[in-house]
Amino acid sequence: MTARKITKKTSRTGPAKLTVRTITSSEIDGWVRSKATGFLSHPAEGEGEYHLGDVDLDRTWGAFEGTTCVGTLRSFATPLTLPGPTEVTSAALTNVTVAPTHRRRGLLTKMITSDLRASADRGEPVGILIASEYPIYGRFGYGAAVDAASYTVDLANVRFRQQSSGHVELVDLATLRREAPPVYERFRTTQPGSIGRSDRWWDRTLEQVDVPGATAVKGYQTIYMSREGEVQGYLRYTAAPEWDLMRPKGTLNIAELVTTSPDAYLGLWRYCCEVDLVTRVQAGDRCIHEPLAWFLEDGRAVRQSGRFDFIWVRVLDVAAALSARRYLTKGRLVIEVTDGQGIAGGRFALDGGPDGATCTSTNATADLTLPVDTLGSMYLGGMSLLALADAGRVDEHSSGAVMRADTMFRSPVTPWCTTWF
Ligand SMILES: CC(C)(COP(=O)(O)OP(=O)(O)OC[C@H]1O[C@@H](n2cnc3c(N)ncnc32)[C@H](O)[C@@H]1OP(=O)(O)O)[C@@H](O)C(=O)NCCC(=O)NCCS
Repeated sequence: MTARKITKKTSRTGPAKLTVRTITSSEIDGWVRSKATGFLSHPAEGEGEYHLGDVDLDRTWGAFEGTTCVGTLRSFATPLTLPGPTEVTSAALTNVTVAPTHRRRGLLTKMITSDLRASADRGEPVGILIASEYPIYGRFGYGAAVDAASYTVDLANVRFRQQSSGHVELVDLATLRREAPPVYERFRTTQPGSIGRSDRWWDRTLEQVDVPGATAVKGYQTIYMSREGEVQGYLRYTAAPEWDLMRPKGTLNIAELVTTSPDAYLGLWRYCCEVDLVTRVQAGDRCIHEPLAWFLEDGRAVRQSGRFDFIWVRVLDVAAALSARRYLTKGRLVIEVTDGQGIAGGRFALDGGPDGATCTSTNATADLTLPVDTLGSMYLGGMSLLALADAGRVDEHSSGAVMRADTMFRSPVTPWCTTWF
């Protein structure tokens, strides 16, 4: 793509009116250019056309000054796994930018409000996103719901307590493209916080198609085969030789390690820790409760080197969202939800437990009042309502209601999402 030619003369009457609307296919190049500028990059030749295959134009928003795109935002529908496990269709928000020339004039507010309302009208009970900066999205009703962590494993001290029963095979990318999606799908449907992946996502990530601007990763990939011959996990990693006075000092970086059994988990982590010439393993975007330490003689060999917010949740339909998931303990709560954007507020009676839940609008006296972003933070069962209450983000009206809600909403499986979007 070449730089846009500036043909228009500067107007004496000032800039054209700002409008926010969904885009047409002929506007994709300008939209992609604007998105790239917002993220401090440049679009590659052909990126607009490639992007057309990813976007749903009905939910791809642009902010325009005249015909010039100065803001971008889009959403797409994807399954989100909930405690239970069950799932809902969520509206995943992405590609959010406003040009530096037009920031802080309310363009994000206009685009996101339009998209949230459209998602709610479509019947999607929740929205999700990954925030570039923490302070942006709380005002729009999103709450930080799933954290992610990075880990460093010092191999000098690693001794595993047991062996796995299957074996690991090195495979090429085409084989991984065939074997990984079913494994991921089995993993995803039991892992609260995780989302679906499209064929295009797999083709792009596993380098099966030419994507404008993409550079090859040059890594390695393996699958884990159980003793019975079932593929129960896969691993993508990079590693490069490094030496310190003739002693090996390599680092193996895990790009993704996904398993569907503890045996496969052990087998693939053990593989990573036993690659010759490597003295350190690093992994990012992992679950905050990584079980690796329990497999080792010295659990301190694994260090959580970072932790950060990852998935944010915006509840759009309280009754549908809360009745879709399961709860750790059986109980009844009346929750008053406040929503400054007027989308999801109201008073709701929740009857929930491990086997199912109902949630309906009610006039009964509320046990708790909380803003919709706090409900979003609690929704996937990974955050402490007690901590949120300490921070003044919940009002308790009946004694013990915060504790009861905290217990009910907890997920027995720590929420985790390993997919960027
Ligand atoms: C984030 C971004 C889209 C905001 O767009 P914008 O049009 O300036 O946002 P708005 O004018 O609608 O801002 C609405 C409110 O959010 C606040 N806000 C916006 N961006 C913020 C930020 N990065 N940090 C803190 N507050 C922010 C504004 O100050 C405003 O607050 P107010 O209502 O109290 O005045 C824009 O700054 C941007 O493109 N950033 C770079 C790319 C990026 O990080 N995108 C997000 C990807 S998840």
